[in-house]
Amino acid sequence: MDSDSLAPTMPAGAVGSESNLVGTKPRSATVRVGVIGYGYWGPNIVRNFHGLEHCEVVAVCDKSPAALKRAARSYPGILLTTDFAEVLRSPDVDAVAIITPVWTHFDLAKEALENGKHVFVEKPFTSTSAQAEELVELAERKNLRIMVDHTFLFSGAVRKIRELVDNGTLGPLYYYDSTRVNLGLFQHDVSVLWDLAPHDLSIMDHLIVEKPEAVVATGSNHLNHLADMAFITVYFPNNVIAHFNVNWLSPVKVRTTLIGGRDKMLVWNDLDPDEKIKVYDKGVNITKRESVYDLLVSYRSGDVWGPKVDATEALKVELEYFIDCILKERTPSNDGAAGLRVVRLLEAAEQSLQARGQLVRL
Ligand SMILES: NC(=O)c1ccc[n+]([C@@H]2O[C@H](COP(=O)([O-])OP(=O)(O)OC[C@H]3O[C@@H](n4cnc5c(N)ncnc54)[C@H](O)[C@@H]3O)[C@@H](O)[C@H]2O)c1
Repeated sequence: MDSDSLAPTMPAGAVGSESNLVGTKPRSATVRVGVIGYGYWGPNIVRNFHGLEHCEVVAVCDKSPAALKRAARSYPGILLTTDFAEVLRSPDVDAVAIITPVWTHFDLAKEALENGKHVFVEKPFTSTSAQAEELVELAERKNLRIMVDHTFLFSGAVRKIRELVDNGTLGPLYYYDSTRVNLGLFQHDVSVLWDLAPHDLSIMDHLIVEKPEAVVATGSNHLNHLADMAFITVYFPNNVIAHFNVNWLSPVKVRTTLIGGRDKMLVWNDLDPDEKIKVYDKGVNITKRESVYDLLVSYRSGDVWGPKVDATEALKVELEYFIDCILKERTPSNDGAAGLRVVRLLEAAEQSLQARGQLVRL
């Protein structure tokens, strides 16, 4: 279970009311999806796929009979199975969504692709970059889509920030600095780095066009052998820098990102329900610099504004895009290559963390 949440605002019981829609959509322009994994995150995936036009959830698979019982209550009539091979090999399934722990992603995705299915797979894409490379190559060879669930890219906040970066409002970027901390939820199979940092690394990858050059990470573990707090720094060309603080041992939940540009700076507080983004017309100008000891700076402090942020559930936007990419044979922006870039950064950060902050070049 990811300790972060773009979790639904809908009451859990609400999903069942739509179940009579299953199977009523036209076959020709419908993508039939099988979902593997109905633990914490899986129900959100099924609920959102289920509400989409041009999509039919035909099967849910989980090794746990208790999980399938929950699915049966919400979606009577859907094929429920504990055997993933039944879904991966079914001719009635066009695409498979893999919502299981990270160490299972590679084997499940590989088998799905080998059986001609498009793949939606949870973050982080895979446990190693070699696995991610193999899947990207396999999907290309089979002309199949891979989409990696980098959910935040589809949130109204990140879409708005991307707009502000793209239209030059912020000016050239100086830094990206995010804090994603809370108490728990401890994972038994991955560290806080592999659990929470994929969110921030995928957002950074989406906003900063330059290729990262090097990574430094420090961190520590206090309760088992997996890091429960980590500080990651990513270096880019032209002194652009990104920093991430991820921590499962924080007494309070914080989801705040600062993005500094030459012309404007912004604060994104994802926990603020009304004003998630505030843009500050603040900055520093060097007005005269005759020598390094004669630095004249002036500070600019202008208006603050809060752009409107679309409140549509990010997963809905993302899954709609997945279906659209399949039907129109388009490559999604959060494809296997994007997932691979994030896994490469995680591997480098892990290597640096193990070496107590040694610089790892990318
Ligand atoms: N995008 C996000 O914001 C977000 C949020 C939460 C979790 N996640 C990701 O979702 C994935 C699952 O996380 P979770 O919190 O739901 O985990 P979970 O442990 O709550 O659920 C995983 C489910 O998969 C089932 N499962 C495991 N292996 C299986 C197999 N081979 N065949 C069939 N079923 C199998 C388990 O029985 C369990 O019910 C992880 O990769 C996690 O990083 C993403």
